[in-house]
Amino acid sequence: MPPESRADDASRFRAPIGTYDILPPESERWIAVTETFAHRASRAGFDFVMTPMFEHREVFDRVGASTEIVRKEIYEFEDKGGRKIALRPDGTAPVVRSFVQHRPPIPWNVWYLAPHFRYERPQKGRYRQFWQLGVESLGVDDPEVDVEVVALAHGFYRDLGLSRFTLVLNSMGDAGTRERYVDVLRGYYAKHGDALGAEFEERVAQNPLRLFDAKRDDWLEVIENAPQITEYLSDDAQEHFERVQEGLHALGIRYELDPRLVRGLDYYTRTTFEFQSQSIDSAQNAIGGGGRYDLLAEEMGGPPTPGIGFAVGIDRVLLSCDAEGVLRDVVPRADVFVVNGLGEQAARQVTLLVMELRENGLRTERAYGDRSVKSQWKLADRSGAAYGVMLGRAEAERDAVAVKDLRSGEQVEVPHEALLAWLQQRQEAGGTDT
Ligand code: HAM
Repeated sequence: MPPESRADDASRFRAPIGTYDILPPESERWIAVTETFAHRASRAGFDFVMTPMFEHREVFDRVGASTEIVRKEIYEFEDKGGRKIALRPDGTAPVVRSFVQHRPPIPWNVWYLAPHFRYERPQKGRYRQFWQLGVESLGVDDPEVDVEVVALAHGFYRDLGLSRFTLVLNSMGDAGTRERYVDVLRGYYAKHGDALGAEFEERVAQNPLRLFDAKRDDWLEVIENAPQITEYLSDDAQEHFERVQEGLHALGIRYELDPRLVRGLDYYTRTTFEFQSQSIDSAQNAIGGGGRYDLLAEEMGGPPTPGIGFAVGIDRVLLSCDAEGVLRDVVPRADVFVVNGLGEQAARQVTLLVMELRENGLRTERAYGDRSVKSQWKLADRSGAAYGVMLGRAEAERDAVAVKDLRSGEQVEVPHEALLAWLQQRQEAGGTDT
């Protein structure tokens, strides 16, 4: 076999570039993050929604024909029926497509957990498959909804124990503001950017908003002095923006205004926001973001319906949890480890006891095969269980079992029929809650 094909084989049996496996015990943290989000979203009146992992390609047209996400990063293919299909790069467009299709009563408040796909240059915190938790609220354009949605995201990060992050806020104005502003920017760059070269000109022609993310020192001054979108807001949009800020202030949620926060997607109107972690690499420090998209439902053929939402990247949230030293030790430990002291022929008896304990809510582990009692006790210690329960010969004669507190080493005999109640009592008292 030529060496190249061996190398191909080797890479075929690895997760594709930009993707990774989430193995235990790390996977337990994903459950913890998701549950935290679900509790908060549910308290705020959001119900869980699931949409397909792929959609007709056109669903993502309004995400932004001129954005990197749609121009270069979308995973698209033709299916066997000749349909143009795309793996979702974003969760908002599919949810709005679903709203337009089913026309549920408004307000329609939903949350989601889903993998998303963007063909990006992979690095820490930037993957080709990444997971988002998000919410979308359709049907109400009251600024109080904006405040509640931002507060939901803020509260979620706080629930996890995060504190080193900044909320950045901006307004993209109403219908037409973005277009007018893009014209203003083009005019400004034509005047002040003519010496900055062909690449600069190309980016101005393509999408001058994206220049705010450019990392070129020689362009910096011109970009920094560019006109700001907030100078072009209508009275209505300005008032909406002020009410959102007042609401956040009333809730004690601190924010920074940044008129250069234009975000990577085209559908935004009015409020936009991003949560940036101060504890992780600045190129991937956005741990969540969102905003209003009051025109999107109508653009997808639905009735005019305002909407707002946000999504957080779980991968990045966990990176910032690591950096801040929070959300550690979420792996549930066993409550009980059952040790077989009666020999291999009693294995079924162990199974019956293990099942009884599990059915009654105790996380129960055991060993298999012909292991010595000593090695089973070693496994019991390693399992982290609070108690070891041994079916032993002497105890069996009295219809009892031996129960050992695996932390103190203290051992007692408990009648078989009293065992469950004995363990449950300790679990309730926190004794098995490690
Ligand atoms: P987004 O800013 O493109 O917004 O993505 C939201 C979050 O997903 C980011 O803040 C980041 O945490 C995470 N993220 C994005 N790309 C990657 C990646 N390649 N690898 C790891 N994490 C990533 C949206 O997608 C909008 N749909 C949010 C929204 C909802 N707006 C309104 N409603």
